[in-house]
This record gives sequence, C-alpha cells and structure tokens, in this order.
Amino acid sequence: MTVRLIKDGVYAVGAIDWNERHFHGHTYVTRRGVTYNSYLIVDEKITLIDTVRRGYEKELIENIRTLVDLSKIKIDIIIINHIEPDHSGAFPEILKLCPGAKVYGTERARQGLLKYYGVSGDWTVVKSGQSLNIGKRTLNFIDVPMIHWPDSMFTYSAYDKILFSNDGFGQHYATNKVFDDEVDFAALMDEAQKYYANILWPFNALVAAKLSTIDKLNLNIELIAPSHGLVWRRYVPEIMQKYLYWSSHSCQNRIAVVYETMWNSTEKMAGKIIEGITSEGVEAVLFDVTKNDRTDIASYMLDAKGWVFGSSTHDGEMLPVITGFLHFLKGSKAKGRRSFAFGSYGWSGEAVKDIEDTGSCVSTFESSLMVVFNPTDEELNKCFEAGKTFALKIKTEK
Ligand code: FEO
Repeated sequence: MTVRLIKDGVYAVGAIDWNERHFHGHTYVTRRGVTYNSYLIVDEKITLIDTVRRGYEKELIENIRTLVDLSKIKIDIIIINHIEPDHSGAFPEILKLCPGAKVYGTERARQGLLKYYGVSGDWTVVKSGQSLNIGKRTLNFIDVPMIHWPDSMFTYSAYDKILFSNDGFGQHYATNKVFDDEVDFAALMDEAQKYYANILWPFNALVAAKLSTIDKLNLNIELIAPSHGLVWRRYVPEIMQKYLYWSSHSCQNRIAVVYETMWNSTEKMAGKIIEGITSEGVEAVLFDVTKNDRTDIASYMLDAKGWVFGSSTHDGEMLPVITGFLHFLKGSKAKGRRSFAFGSYGWSGEAVKDIEDTGSCVSTFESSLMVVFNPTDEELNKCFEAGKTFALKIKTEK
C-alpha cells in the first residue's frame, strides 16, 4: 500500500494482500483479497494505530519511513486495538525498532500479545472512558469486546473526527484506493455484508449494545477507519445503518435453498421448490452447497428470512458437505428464520431429521418433504406446492 493521507496528520500506512483467498485459515474465502490497515498519526507524539500481519512488516516500516525518519524520531505510542495476528503480527518488529514506545490497549490484549509473541512492551492498560493526549489530539478508548475478540477496542480522535474501528465496519477488499467513494459502492457493500455475516453475526447482541453505547457518546464521526478495506467517508451513515439492521436480526422476504445431492433426485426437488417460491414472486437463490463457498451462502442468508435445506441420505445421515455447512451455520446464532427440510432417500431417509436436528437452534422448521429414489411427477408437484406455500408464509407472516 502506498501511504495515503486520510486527514491532516493522519496517514494510512498498512499493507495490501492482493492474493489472499483463504483468510483465517480456511474459514473465509476472500475473493477480492485483504488489506491490513495501520494508521500513523503525526502529532507531538508519533502514534501508530495497529500493525499488520506477519510477513508485511517491511511494507509497514517502509511506509512509516516515508513520513518520519525512524533513525532520528521514534514511534512514541503504539495503540493495539486488537491482537489477532492479522493486526499484531508486525508488533514485535515495530517494538524492536522503537523499544521505548509506550503501548496502550486492554488487559486482555496485553495478555494475548505476551502469549503470542512473548513481548508486550511498556504497556498501559486502558478501558472505556479513558483517554490519552498525544499533542493537539486526545485519543479516547472504547472497549468493544467480541468486535471481534474479547480484547478488542476502538480508538476515537475527536480532533480528526475519526473512529479507528479495527475489525468493526471492515471489508475484505484489496485496492490501492483508500476511501469508500473511490470504489464501486455495490461491491463495497457486498463485501461489508459478507464480512459482517462471517465475522460478526454470532455477536449480534454485543454489536447492537455497543452501537447504542457509541450513539449515546454522541461522537462526531466524519471518518470510520477500519483495519480491513476502505475508510468510510461518504457512506458513514449508510454503514452505521447497516450495522444496526444486521445486528437486530432483521430479515427480508427472501429465501435461500441450500442442498446437496447424490444422484440428482434431491436436486430435482430443489429445482421444483424454487419454482414454487418464484410463482409467489418471492426472491430466492438456489445454492448447491458443494459448488458454492459457504461464506458466500452465509452472506446471502444473513438477512434472508427463509432457509430451505435439502440432502440425500447416505449411510444413514445427511451428506457430508451440507453437514459441515449446517454446523458452520449454527455459529451464527441467527433468530427469526423459517425453514423446511427435504431430500431423496433409498431405504431409511435420516437426512431430513438430521437437518432439522442440526438446524433447529438457528431456525424454526416446518413439515419436511421426502421422496424415495427418483421423484415422480406427482412428487415434483408436491415440491412445487411446498415451495409456493412456504413463500406465501414468508411474505405474509411477520
Ligand atoms: Fe482482522 Fe479479528 O482480526
């Protein structure tokens, strides 16, 4: 990343990981790559907010060197908003370069960094309500546990009207642009939604509570500077509104039909179900779970009221890929969803019950639909009718 000025004296100095496609191990497919944003505030005290992933230390340090002569002026302050390795990986290297730097973060962050790297530097524990003067600016800290880890916090600069939100409001979007209005808006919001669905969805209650706390603080926010993706400048109200909406478990009248099939019988059922849904004019998307990435499916499901799941029965169970998907989905702790299960079987037909047992903690299941081997025309008509009836419920029930 080339250094970009985001406000007088405040620079984006992080790194771009153009080709990262499997972030967080294999838990998140990042089709547009990833950025690790770090910010340098040049004030009386040179202050670095967050670092970058290990392997990108050189890029970070070179970026910082374009702004300050590190042989003469050292970084005075390092703010650690969050310790996950995508943000803290370069911390030991920065500390070596600036051993006198004072470090600020939560107690959980201090303990975590010690465990990860064996160093934490000259650490001061901070929490919500505390502040730090760095010259013209006073930085305020806001604990935001579970946005994204227990150690997480936001840092707010009233002087700049910037909220440094680390994982909050992030998107996985590698670009040499820095502001939200410099990229395609639809693509940006698509990545913001996928990010929320795959990082923050399980913590809806905590996100909602924290948004309310921030609202009460009456902060004047002109920029939201996350540690992934673009800085929100033009669309601050829009992304705030989206976080309120997503964190409240709000849904649209749309349906995801997610299935896995062995010999195409369950797939034929899925096709008729979506035809029935379509006949009621309800938006729906058909996902073969073996051909779509689960993080893309989750992104669509985040605000879809209807979730329909299908699987053939194999060895007395639902198929393995949809098994993994449903276990993954349990983590969302979703509320207010409606579902039904369907599937083809040969002689026992446990898949449908398996789906219901696994999915019932995140959705309410209605009567299921099963066929033996290949569906007949009559059975396919039943699938059509089931889709139609379900769509009618989705669009009429509150
Ligand atoms: Fe981007 Fe929770 O780390």
